[in-house]
Amino acid sequence: MAEGRARHVAIIMDGNGRWAKKRHLPRVMGHRKGVEAVRALVRSLQSIDLECLTLYAFSSENWKRPEDEVDDLMELMRRFIKSDLPEFIEHNVRLKIIGDWQSLAPDIVEMLEDALRRTENGTRTLAVALNYGAQAEIVAAARAAAAGGEITERSLAQHLYTADLPPLDLLVRTSGEVRLSNFLLWQAAYAEMLFTEVLWPDYTPDHLREALDHFSRRERRFGGR
Ligand code: IPE
Ligand code: IPE
Ligand code: MG
Repeated sequence: MAEGRARHVAIIMDGNGRWAKKRHLPRVMGHRKGVEAVRALVRSLQSIDLECLTLYAFSSENWKRPEDEVDDLMELMRRFIKSDLPEFIEHNVRLKIIGDWQSLAPDIVEMLEDALRRTENGTRTLAVALNYGAQAEIVAAARAAAAGGEITERSLAQHLYTADLPPLDLLVRTSGEVRLSNFLLWQAAYAEMLFTEVLWPDYTPDHLREALDHFSRRERRFGGR
């Protein structure tokens, strides 16, 4: 039974390091190519019918990496926002950041605040998970729900970062790893999952199109029959 189109897809962009290693390049080259893959995907939203794309860019556990690599990732983030913000605005992409992004470096926080403001009227959402961890998200949401009254599935969900996004339809992870790595644990309750061997720097808009096509042919039951 065809289930129709996906509204919200999330991607765990994994495999930059292995992509570089395969080519005997420094890891940062993999991250750079990874940013290019992000750019191509965001551009493709012009022709792909999707309301929201959520990308896992930096987890709250990624701080455990060597300082050099964290610095490289932060620098790539700065450059990406600077270079691609005009395009987001032009293409009606609404940027949303999920995670504890306010505790990133002050200049990045400032750039993000500016980017959020300038893209707030966009019609399609690009949600980027920065310093994100799902367990911390759920704990914070439970606390906020409790402070506001009763904790219910509904009240808790209203305090998640994703409260204003369509329900998660499809979760993709690249690079062959089959785990969630603390990403969207609550939201993935009934999401379809797709694990691909493709390393993130090699991921193209055609892969996303294929994933959406695949999704449209899956039968979702939500516990019924
Ligand atoms: C994903 O690629 C990028 C981030 C987690 C920031 P990795 O850096 O995890 O690449 P692998 O898993 O080592 O190949
Ligand atoms: C998950 O990838 C986080 C991002 C893609 C940003 P990791 O490479 O950090 O995950 P693990 O460590 O393999 O679980
Ligand atoms: Mg990885």
